[in-house]
Amino acid sequence: MTPHTEAGRGPDGAHGFAVAALSGREGALAAIYERRAVRAYTDEPVARDQIKVLLDAAIHAPSAVNSQPWAFVVIQEPELLTRYDEEAGSLFLAEPPAAEVANSGLPALDALRKVISSTGYVLFHHAPALVVIYSTSAGGVSDCFLAAENLMLAAWAIGLGTCPIGLATPLFNQPEVKAELGISPEWSVALPIVAGHPSGQVPPTTRQPVHVVTWR
Ligand SMILES: Cc1cc2nc3c(=O)[nH]c(=O)nc-3n(C[C@H](O)[C@H](O)[C@H](O)COP(=O)(O)O)c2cc1C
Repeated sequence: MTPHTEAGRGPDGAHGFAVAALSGREGALAAIYERRAVRAYTDEPVARDQIKVLLDAAIHAPSAVNSQPWAFVVIQEPELLTRYDEEAGSLFLAEPPAAEVANSGLPALDALRKVISSTGYVLFHHAPALVVIYSTSAGGVSDCFLAAENLMLAAWAIGLGTCPIGLATPLFNQPEVKAELGISPEWSVALPIVAGHPSGQVPPTTRQPVHVVTWR
């Protein structure tokens, strides 16, 4: 990131875009456009300090009346990741998709069920770290999603990859799993997100054109 200069002024005294560039604002756009859902990771663990960067970025998200209705679980133990991965997969295969799974961003859930049951598809994509964001208030899930995006953009900024794992949401809402993780029964999962060092390049994804209905 380029250094900040005297407030409101670049080194040449210019205002506006030059100042924005100097303060690293263009980096925010780069993160937005270049972040991808990463589904292949190296074995390299994520350092605790890197996880702290992600969590700190997450809690700097805006929230309604600054309520900050989020709490985090971080899982890096390989055995626990494997167990939860398997349990999340079994739950997904056994239960009809809940609303949050249906909205998981994966278009072909039936096809995915076949893949998971027949090929040993791994929900967590072998990532070495998982952060589960819980909403600590009934209306806090939307705030938590802003925190989630902050977390993912920060990960991109420090060279990590992330992938939201909506398919694991039902598992982390199970009472016994919440109890094991020290999560209050009243809190609900906003989004599990895996993180790690990307293995290879992720090709760009497409977006539909902006759908502006009214612009008056
Ligand atoms: C709420 C939500 C849940 C998602 N759940 C999963 C998931 O369970 N597994 C997965 O591989 N990707 C998941 N994704 C990632 C999306 O598939 C991905 O963001 C989308 O295909 C666009 O790709 P991009 O993020 O690289 O732009 C999820 C994304 C969101 C926003």
